Amino acid sequence: MDRIRIIGGHRLNGTIPISGAKNAALPLMIASLLTEQTLILDNVPRLADVAQLERILGNHGVDIMVSGKRSGETADHGQTLHISAARIVDTTAPYELVSKMRASFWVLAPLVARMGEARISMPGGCAIGTRPVDLLIMAVERLGGKIDIEGGYVLARAPKGLKGAEIVFPKVTVGGTHTAVMAASLAKGTTVLENAAREPEIVDVADCLNKMGARISGAGTRQIIVEGVAGLKGARHAVLPDRIETGTYAMAAAMTGGDVLLQNGRPELLQAALDVLVRAGVTVMPTNQGIRIVRNGAGLAPVDVTTAPFPEFPTDLQAQLMALMTRARGTSHITETIFENRFMHVGELTRLGARIQLDGERATIEGVPQLKGAPVMATDLRASVSLVIAALAAEGETIVNRVYHLDRGFERLEDKLGRCGAAIERLSG
Ligand code: EPU
Repeated sequence: MDRIRIIGGHRLNGTIPISGAKNAALPLMIASLLTEQTLILDNVPRLADVAQLERILGNHGVDIMVSGKRSGETADHGQTLHISAARIVDTTAPYELVSKMRASFWVLAPLVARMGEARISMPGGCAIGTRPVDLLIMAVERLGGKIDIEGGYVLARAPKGLKGAEIVFPKVTVGGTHTAVMAASLAKGTTVLENAAREPEIVDVADCLNKMGARISGAGTRQIIVEGVAGLKGARHAVLPDRIETGTYAMAAAMTGGDVLLQNGRPELLQAALDVLVRAGVTVMPTNQGIRIVRNGAGLAPVDVTTAPFPEFPTDLQAQLMALMTRARGTSHITETIFENRFMHVGELTRLGARIQLDGERATIEGVPQLKGAPVMATDLRASVSLVIAALAAEGETIVNRVYHLDRGFERLEDKLGRCGAAIERLSG
């Protein structure tokens, strides 16, 4: 298993190119199941989760062709996938595949909408909580899908097709919203979603579906209206930049000090997080190439932050902010309201010398003048990268174990940070 070795104490200076968003690329790839024609996706990040979804789609009979690099392109350009679900050969998504990546459960909606049936393994719990799928199932049921749960699988049937309906989400859910929008796109009649997720990835997928011939309005607001169509066609769409990757490197630069341009980063995708950085004393400058993050000398001010659905501060940046606040001049509070168990990084940050106390969903972080390197590991993607951020400012050597978590969601992390002056290397095996 690969590890990452970091020697802390180097400022970051330079440019970090931001990749396409993992959490848009995955549902966009899944949307390919809605049409017999080819969906071409540009700016797809090279990530383990993308490769895993390619295997899952392959199991349903989807052909995926990756375009070769064109002249002048570098590794910083995302890949282009040509995805063709001309013939779906299997409507089952087996446990072995779904258990490796929860988002693969989302194939439920396009399969039942287009094929009239889907048999999808329940994903089970994961490192950040129980993560139920009841609201995704509710959405398909509201649209007329008959649901049975058997042997750990969800069986969804709609032999005569789905029917538009009103779907009111009791809780904001990204996966539930993707599921409802995709299923409703091929349903007969109009669907109205209330309390829909407003995340930018929802808007990106809706934009792509509209290019494919869907009739979706209101994406990005609490109410989304989908007028079902008889069929969808192929389209070409570029994945939007990854706001979580952007925010992660913004926090890394804030941690080490320095001057970093987050190329292609779009401030409006993470305004709440940028506002927190400004409150902490970091200079944030939107430019026409991206977002510039500068911190020179001045210490970090502590902050009080609560995670919440978009447009509020994202849960996917909670661990990274906590790493940053371990070095603030004073006491910070971070409250996690989205996932009940997303504090796996706390114990590991403590190994680096951080002072953090947990009380239910609230963490109190008392800033310390210095962290010290140590061997650490994490059990999820965002927790792992928070350890990288802490290590960049810790004295001496930190080894981050279980790098496969990082590879799920951060493309060439050691390369991007190394090019800005971090002492970071991957140790293979
Ligand atoms: N929830 C339910 N029932 C459901 C679905 C969700 O109770 O049927 C609850 C969840 O347990 C959670 C809350 O609703 O408490 C929100 O969950 P949501 O459905 O929004 O999360 P998700 O769709 O499973 C996506 C991202 C996550 C991100 C969350 C929240 C992808 C592939 N995943 O998950 O990303 O944290 O939205 O923004 O888009 C990550 O990238 O590291 C990651 C975990």
